[in-house]
Order: sequence, then structure tokens, then C-alpha cells
Amino acid sequence: MKSLSSSKNLSHYPVMLEEVMRLCKPEEGGQFLDCTFGSGGYTNKILSYPRTKVIALDRDIYTEKYVLQTKKKYKDRFKFYNKKFSEINKIIENNIKVDFIIFDLGISSLQILNLNRGFSFKSRSSLDMRMGLNSISGYELINNFGAETINDILKLLGEEKESYRISKKIIEERKKKPIKEVPELVEIIKKSKRKDFNKKIDISTKSFQAIRIFVNKEISELIEGLINAAKILKAGGKIIIITFHSIEDKIVKFFFNHYSKNRSKSSRYFPDNNDQQKFLFENYKNKVIKPSKKEISENNASRSAKLRFATRSEESFFDPKEMKKKFYNYLELENRNV
Ligand SMILES: C[S@@+](CC[C@H](N)C(=O)[O-])C[C@H]1O[C@@H](n2cnc3c(N)ncnc32)[C@H](O)[C@@H]1O
Repeated sequence: MKSLSSSKNLSHYPVMLEEVMRLCKPEEGGQFLDCTFGSGGYTNKILSYPRTKVIALDRDIYTEKYVLQTKKKYKDRFKFYNKKFSEINKIIENNIKVDFIIFDLGISSLQILNLNRGFSFKSRSSLDMRMGLNSISGYELINNFGAETINDILKLLGEEKESYRISKKIIEERKKKPIKEVPELVEIIKKSKRKDFNKKIDISTKSFQAIRIFVNKEISELIEGLINAAKILKAGGKIIIITFHSIEDKIVKFFFNHYSKNRSKSSRYFPDNNDQQKFLFENYKNKVIKPSKKEISENNASRSAKLRFATRSEESFFDPKEMKKKFYNYLELENRNV
């Protein structure tokens, strides 16, 4: 995630920019895929090196202004698609393989600071939370879905301890009148909670995170995105991923470990490896890179960021079903429509 600096020009702060550039060495050139363009922080930095090309995507049409600026400057070296990254394999035509794939997950400051989109519990607007290319909004979830699903969403996707009390109160209140605006939901959450367990974050933070993840199907997007990324990455190429919450990090960690030599360590159900076996990722070290103290002091939003990366081997086969099975509980939940 990035934040806007205090400058009136609204400059942007892509998280761990230096660390990402160190890993993908744009000075050496190559074909890059930026799966989360946002306002183009990484893409523009990469394109400032002459022998690079970037294909970028973002599901949010609000990125258009930044896309046009980048296009004007870098012309044919830059291509953009307003698509979800779960579909990257359909976008990259003619079996093109790329050298680096970057995911900077979550929402951008541009999204959260736009108080008309309902991402923040500080919004005064309608309950929306759609990043773009969605099937439902926050309003539809809160007003049409059953108590059980709302409870499961708050519990599993938000790790909200008082999910049951909140979902019960939502159902009670919506019987009186539809819950349309963000402040109405914030009030319901406040009234339902017995205890403010975590004084460091707002009482509504976890519920809002859960609703946003569900509305944008963020877990399904990540799982499909990773599987498809592995298919279009060149041997020797890298996937670089920045996550912002524990569910995302758990998925990325499992993906890299499970499809590398660390496989047997990732689950007690898998047999030990033998040396003949080939893996999708080479020499995966399970290393996590975090923002420096300096970066956190300049951009507090970066404090929960974790960067992981892995290098693709020549192996062409892997079984994505194992990944889907492991995270079935999230996938099943995100696919509910009642
Ligand atoms: C944290 S921001 C990326 C910021 C970017 N690295 C920069 O430097 O400006 C995440 C972006 O990813 C986009 N996004 C999130 N999920 C997506 C998905 N499944 N498919 C495509 N774009 C997605 C969001 O709309 C948002 O613009």
C-alpha cells in the first residue's frame, strides 16, 4: 500500500520501492508484469530504465489518470488492462513469458482516502467498497445476505472476535430499515461490541476489512492470481509479492513453500522430498522483507507490509488443486451468494 505525502501535489509512496527494484534489477531490462498498477509507482520506476517493458493491470478504473500519464511518457513500452489479476493468463497472449511479476496487494491510499467509496469507516457515503469489476457491493452484502454468512465473513476474513454479536445486530437493524450509509454500520458495530480488545486499531477496522475482502473476493483473486502467474513466468524469473494482512501472507507463504523444496515442511500431510523431485520454485528461502524504520516513519501505512519473492524453475508441471484444497474454507466462503 502507499500513502499520499503531505505535499499538496499528492505525490505517491509505493511501499518498499527500493527493495522491489533491487530484486527485479530493471537496469538490466526485461518484460515486467505489474498486477496492481494503482498510481503506477513501481511501473514508472521500472520504465525509467530504457530496456524495460511493462504490462500492467488494475481492476479499478479510477487509475485511468495515471495510466494515461504513463502511456504518454513511455508509449509502446507500456500496456495497460483494466482487468482482475485472476485473469492474467488470458491477457498475456501468444504464450509470452515474463521476467518479473509484481503484486502489491490490498487497497491504495487513493481508494481509502476517497471517502465517497465507503472503504474507510471514516466515510460519510454509502456502503460500497467495490474496487471495480465486482459482482456485489458492501450494501448488498449487509442488507441481503444471511446472518450465518455475515458472521462467517467477519470471523474468518476479519478475525473479529465478536462477529456473532455484530451480525445479529445487523440483522435486527436492517429489519427496521436498510443499512445504507457507512456511519450507520459503524454505529451498529459500536453498539454490538462488548469490549474493545485491540486499542491500537479502531473498533470497526476488522469488520471493514472483512467486508472489503468479501466484496472484492480478495482471497480467491490472490489464489487464482498466484496460480496463473506461475504459468506465465519465465524460468529464472521472479514473483514478488507485498501483503498487508495475515491471511494474504499465509497464502503466499504456503504457495512458495509448498511448490518448492520446502514442501514437506509446509504440511505434515506431505511425504518427505527426495532429491530427484523437481519443484516450481528454486531455492526458496522463506525470507520476509519488511519496510525500514525510516520508511515506516515516513509512511505509517507501510508498517504491516511483508515482501516475499520466489524464483521460477524450469519445471513445467504443478498441481494447483493442492493450493485450492488447502484454502478451501476461504474459497467456499467467498463464493457464497446468500
Ligand atoms: C496497494 S495498490 C498498488 C499501488 C501501486 N504499487 C503503486 O505503486 O501505485 C493496489 C492496487 O491493486 C488493485 N487491485 C487489487 N486487487 C486487484 C485484482 N484482483 N486485480 C487487479 N487489480 C487489483 C487495486 O485496485 C489498487 O489500485
